[in-house]
Amino acid sequence: MTRSADLQLFLDEIALALGGITEGAAAAAALRIGARLAGRQGTPLETAGAAAERLPICDEIAAVLAVAERGPRGRLARAFGALQGQLAWRRRPSADPDDARFWHGHANAEILGPKGMERRSDLWIGASLMAPGVDYPRHSHAPEEIYFALSPGEWWNAQMDWTDPGPAGHVYNPPGIAHAMRSGSSPMLALWVLPL
Ligand SMILES: [Fe+2]
Repeated sequence: MTRSADLQLFLDEIALALGGITEGAAAAAALRIGARLAGRQGTPLETAGAAAERLPICDEIAAVLAVAERGPRGRLARAFGALQGQLAWRRRPSADPDDARFWHGHANAEILGPKGMERRSDLWIGASLMAPGVDYPRHSHAPEEIYFALSPGEWWNAQMDWTDPGPAGHVYNPPGIAHAMRSGSSPMLALWVLPL
């Protein structure tokens, strides 16, 4: 199975967004990730189409993208829009059904990665969606991480106060750092990219 045109177009836009990061530790991370992205294709799941899953919150995606498509990441937003219906949108595995706001108010989808629509063990790319007024739990992981915002929203990490990077911005999380995000009065959609 070869990579679909929709996925290739999205990954080309991710590569362009990575290439736009020119300062600090994030720029070095973007180079590392970009090299892996350009390096090879992973193993697309034979069941990629059938594996698509959605959650009720996915109804929010179209309105978020309609705004993002008119912004500085318009091409990336459009490319993601072509892909989002093919993804398996799932809750965070540790989500608690008793925490109704978070349970009903978030979804994650893996694009490249161990469980992605294309299996990769060296690169992890995905999306997170949150309803208004939702806090995504503080967490950490060994790989460094770059987030691209496709909507307003705020990020925090142990070295950075709560920050909205803006419609053309990004957030860089160094390896292992504690970090979190939260939506404001509108839904939040973000893409994340990690080298594994
Ligand atoms: Fe993270």
